[in-house]
Amino acid sequence: MPSACSSTSLSSLACLKWSVEAMAGGAIVNTGGGKDYPGKLTVFVFFACFVAATGGLIFGYDIGISGGVTSMESFLEKFFPEVYRKEKLDTSTNQYCRFDSQLLTIFTSSLYLAALVASFCASTVTRVLGRKWSMFGGGVVFLVGAVLNGAAKNVLMLILGRILLGIGVGFANQSVPVYLSEMAPARLRGMLNIGFQLMITFGILCANLINYGTAKIKGGWGWRVSLALAVVPAAIISIGSLFLPDTPNSLIERGHAEQAKKMLRRIRGTDDILDEYNDLVAASEESKLVKHPWANIMKRKYRPQLVIGILIPFFQQLTGINVIMFYAPVLFKTMGFGNDASLMSAVITGIVNLFATFISVLTVDKLGRRKLFLEGGVQMLISQSMVGILMAIKLGTSGEGHFSKAYSGFLVLFVCIYVMGFAWSWGPLGWLVPSEIFPLEIRSAGQSINVSVNMFFTFVIAQAFLTMLCHLKFALFFFFGAWVIVMTIFIALFLPETKGVPIEEMALVWKKHWFWSRFISDDDVHERNVEMGKPNSAF
Ligand code: BGC
Repeated sequence: MPSACSSTSLSSLACLKWSVEAMAGGAIVNTGGGKDYPGKLTVFVFFACFVAATGGLIFGYDIGISGGVTSMESFLEKFFPEVYRKEKLDTSTNQYCRFDSQLLTIFTSSLYLAALVASFCASTVTRVLGRKWSMFGGGVVFLVGAVLNGAAKNVLMLILGRILLGIGVGFANQSVPVYLSEMAPARLRGMLNIGFQLMITFGILCANLINYGTAKIKGGWGWRVSLALAVVPAAIISIGSLFLPDTPNSLIERGHAEQAKKMLRRIRGTDDILDEYNDLVAASEESKLVKHPWANIMKRKYRPQLVIGILIPFFQQLTGINVIMFYAPVLFKTMGFGNDASLMSAVITGIVNLFATFISVLTVDKLGRRKLFLEGGVQMLISQSMVGILMAIKLGTSGEGHFSKAYSGFLVLFVCIYVMGFAWSWGPLGWLVPSEIFPLEIRSAGQSINVSVNMFFTFVIAQAFLTMLCHLKFALFFFFGAWVIVMTIFIALFLPETKGVPIEEMALVWKKHWFWSRFISDDDVHERNVEMGKPNSAF
């Protein structure tokens, strides 16, 4: 520890810098993923990434808030009177089908359709104007949506607000992960990128706690507070983004070579940046040859990135995580918990989600992406099978039966073990891996595909869950478990390790891979080497 950290006249910057480096594993070492550029993790880059990561708050806040709000009676009575009446009159004893209502789920899931469409527009803004303006735009639109929702007088205002929130999420999710992966030094890219997921989980937890509080407000306007408070995360990212520097990759891509050099020196904390700078320029030259990113992404040589960029977000949603995130209170009610206990259990899973994400932050650049994916997959499979088995034993297929306290405790325990597994694997890596595998020329387009696939399947799960629970009953957990088996095998066979590989050198990993190498011809290798100024080197 530097003396500054232990002395009373502490130099906070030196101390913070030490802490950051210590968190990243002491002296920065090459993790063995390939080429290594000089430089260290500077306080400047740490803060830039911290501010950018707050873009995850708006996504997280929304995930956490909508489930709770849609279970508040005053909200249902005002906007969805039929659902409210049905719930009141429903005397059925089948626990599985108590909450099956399409109209209500549309409220939750409409946002994700808006986000899906918006991410395609965000792709152009991110590429042409730079990453920070996408974040700013996303924050401001989200803010307007939050005001509309908080003040909603009718369903129209509510839905319009949801659409604006969705546009905000689409822009933020498109730009933030790319920004983080470009700013970070290769060997710490995982850690800094996961800041995004950390903010998502923090947003979810805050929303859960806020719902817990506002549900108790007398007079039936608690839901307004929950919805309106979304202005807070929106203001944080809108204002924060104005202070963000552009990434060197984006500066070069937009023709600001000198600024890019300066920025690289500043974020790497060294003057020895020429090697990295030259590689960024070469990557940018190559990207200039690409006039139509959307047509190019279809080329055979990009097939590995395209397939992985589509399957990772698809699989992330098929883990079934959002069943817990959106419907935890409903799910816990189905398991026989009372109202308060259900909301409290949702808070518990929120806390587990946040803290388990830290494990990923600390290990992703040491263990690598693959190990976390594989371990998380096995853990999720075992725990969700246990939840399915426990529900089958008590509720059977009739959906009738009650849980003792101890039995419910066991259920919550396995749900928590499941959330933990997700939180250090598919949660953060679902955003990290797609943001780091696409070469510059198709990065924005690739990230839009990632966001839109993610949003589409978030929409599908949000929309279908209550009906699926009603029909599949406890087997719903085995359904998601089966998908977890598929995705874990996919990772084992088809995902190359990307830890420590510089982002503009990522093309190397495919050529070395047993399966993907067949998609990259010798001509592609030669073409790329010429672009990178190394015509005679091999992959
Ligand atoms: C996923 C969300 C999920 C959240 C839970 C994110 O990575 O994209 O769909 O709700 O993790 O923490």
